[in-house]
Amino acid sequence: MARINDNYLKLKAGYLFPEIGRRVREFSAANPTAKVIRLGIGDVTQPLAPAVLKAFHAAIDDLGTTENFAGYGPEQGYEWLSRTIIDKSYKPLGVELKSSEMFISDGSKCDCANILDIFALDNVVAIGDPVYPVYNDTNVMVGRTGEADDKGYYQGVVYMPCTEENGFVPALPKEKVDIIYLCSPNNPTGTVATKEQLTAWVDYANANGSIIFFDAAYEAFITTPGIPHSIYEIEGARQCAIEFRSFSKTAGFTGVRCGLVVIPEEVMGTTANGEKFSFNKLWNRRTTTKFNGTSYPVQRAAAAVYSDAGWAQVKATIDYYMDNARIIREGLTAAGITCYGGVDSPYIWLKTPDAMTSWDFFDKLLNECHVVGTPGSGFGPSGEGYFRLSAFGDKASVETAVARIREKWGK
Ligand code: MLT
Repeated sequence: MARINDNYLKLKAGYLFPEIGRRVREFSAANPTAKVIRLGIGDVTQPLAPAVLKAFHAAIDDLGTTENFAGYGPEQGYEWLSRTIIDKSYKPLGVELKSSEMFISDGSKCDCANILDIFALDNVVAIGDPVYPVYNDTNVMVGRTGEADDKGYYQGVVYMPCTEENGFVPALPKEKVDIIYLCSPNNPTGTVATKEQLTAWVDYANANGSIIFFDAAYEAFITTPGIPHSIYEIEGARQCAIEFRSFSKTAGFTGVRCGLVVIPEEVMGTTANGEKFSFNKLWNRRTTTKFNGTSYPVQRAAAAVYSDAGWAQVKATIDYYMDNARIIREGLTAAGITCYGGVDSPYIWLKTPDAMTSWDFFDKLLNECHVVGTPGSGFGPSGEGYFRLSAFGDKASVETAVARIREKWGK
């Protein structure tokens, strides 16, 4: 009989969001009249920008004509899209990139997971705690870790606690690590890394020959001037950082699927013989073998995000979500709940009232306020006692949710 990949059996729980979905379905089945408001998974609710939709439609029409029909595109994405992203989104930050350093994909979640293909298993990884569960779980799946301990920490991984005490910014590891996951604006804590903090990471990485995986999926939600939108704004990052970006939250593409990976030519690893080798070349090799490119209409729609009209419309939706974030943050703070994030990020990270566990608060909120959020402990042991609310709902629902929570907590 064929053997399974036993590493999957080390995973302690099902993936967080399906588990939340299961509990909500159970609740709704038992309480069919309850109007449940979902602020759990960070899924967008507002429609695509009209300029994006128009480009999407036009590209689908292209597929119905002989002249403009598109079959397999370049596995790395069309150059007209990577050039547009570089010119419109990176150049204004003072970041120069070549098209060959950008790989368009069908979403950042897959990229964050798949990137492990081009790294040897004996690399030591450092992961934040709490963290986007994909980083941790994919390392378990590929077999880079041992078993989890009682708390949920996997043997062999260096965890970097992000707590109230350190402002949710991890300290540099004391030991030498090879791969560092950073996410700013952070999912789940909603906090951002400053230029100085990122400089310390880049300096550490260059001094230790480590690679930073920089997840910038939420960069478009930064409102504070001076906060880096890209790791490449930091001197030395071209030598040590791989950046992930996504159209999911920026432009409402959670169902459309488009993301990108940037791997500058200078990012190097070593072979078994100690020779230097380019990660860009390896990722290109992987991509051409395992991927046939993001669909043509999706890439046309993505390019339209950066048209003048497209960006104005997309930005208006981002502002709409960030106003939701303000409503949640201010409303809950007025109810005496300690909140973090929600200023440069669409996530509010709150301390559970009355020192409840994260899942107890989840159940109470669902049962008594009919509001769904995400238990902080689902993002890692240091998330226990915290809870994440997403600002991606529609405004009326967000206002109702906040009113219900305030009523419950009596302020
Ligand atoms: C989240 O809620 O953390 C995100 O929506 C998950 C994701 O982007 O995959």
